[in-house]
Amino acid sequence: MAPHISLVLAPKDEVSGRLSTQIKTRQRVRDLAEVYTHDREVNAMLDLIPNMFPAAAAGADIKFLEPACGSGNFLVGILRRKLAHITWKRIGAIGRYEHRMLRALASVYGVDICTDNVAEARERMLDVVREHYYGDANSIEPTEGFIAAARTILGTNILCADMLGAASTTEVIDYRVGRDGTFTRVWSMLDDSASNHEADLFDPEPEPKADEVPVHYSDLARRPRPTRLLKLDEARRA
Ligand SMILES: C[S@@+](CC[C@H](N)C(=O)[O-])C[C@H]1O[C@@H](n2cnc3c(N)ncnc32)[C@H](O)[C@@H]1O
Repeated sequence: MAPHISLVLAPKDEVSGRLSTQIKTRQRVRDLAEVYTHDREVNAMLDLIPNMFPAAAAGADIKFLEPACGSGNFLVGILRRKLAHITWKRIGAIGRYEHRMLRALASVYGVDICTDNVAEARERMLDVVREHYYGDANSIEPTEGFIAAARTILGTNILCADMLGAASTTEVIDYRVGRDGTFTRVWSMLDDSASNHEADLFDPEPEPKADEVPVHYSDLARRPRPTRLLKLDEARRA
């Protein structure tokens, strides 16, 4: 993973009076320690790290990982704070506006062991993106490529995995920001610390998977695999 990842830890204890909206079933509490964090606590915790949400464009790229994200309470709180700085009034060009929002989305990662939590977290994040777009840019309609790109990013950033047992075999994408609405994707494992051993001449590490050609955001959904530069003879044949 790229550096500068902030790890958000969920508090272990909840205020008992608020538990009713914070659990799905007693069985899930027993099996998964699944007690969701209330909005108030999410916001109070995020208020402690205001410098992680700077207004400058590069602020959109500061990365967060929620390793037991549940239905996404922290993820949506983080995303809302990032999007608050991205306004049509300041940007005023649809390509740059959508790219900036996708940068914010692509910098937020979540993992949960339950598929229903992951599906819910992805939908809630997409709702936050839509709400921001319609609330901020009024009559401007999102492009088709934008919504498809947002779904694609959510599919690769909000992952169903066992963070304790499978982080070293769970693939994740780092969306590196390029010019003119592009990203260069780099694939790695959620936890690649096990592969950081000394280089072995006889068993070299494979090259990390990455795009050779940056991908415009409107093409992200259509191009899920790493892009390759065409060699001259391939280009002639194409
Ligand atoms: C206490 S809840 C917290 C949910 C969320 N962070 C919040 O604050 O609302 C713990 C979550 O961890 C998930 N979980 C439990 N074991 C896990 C594991 N090994 N890997 C990933 N997620 C796990 C559960 O499904 C549950 O959603």
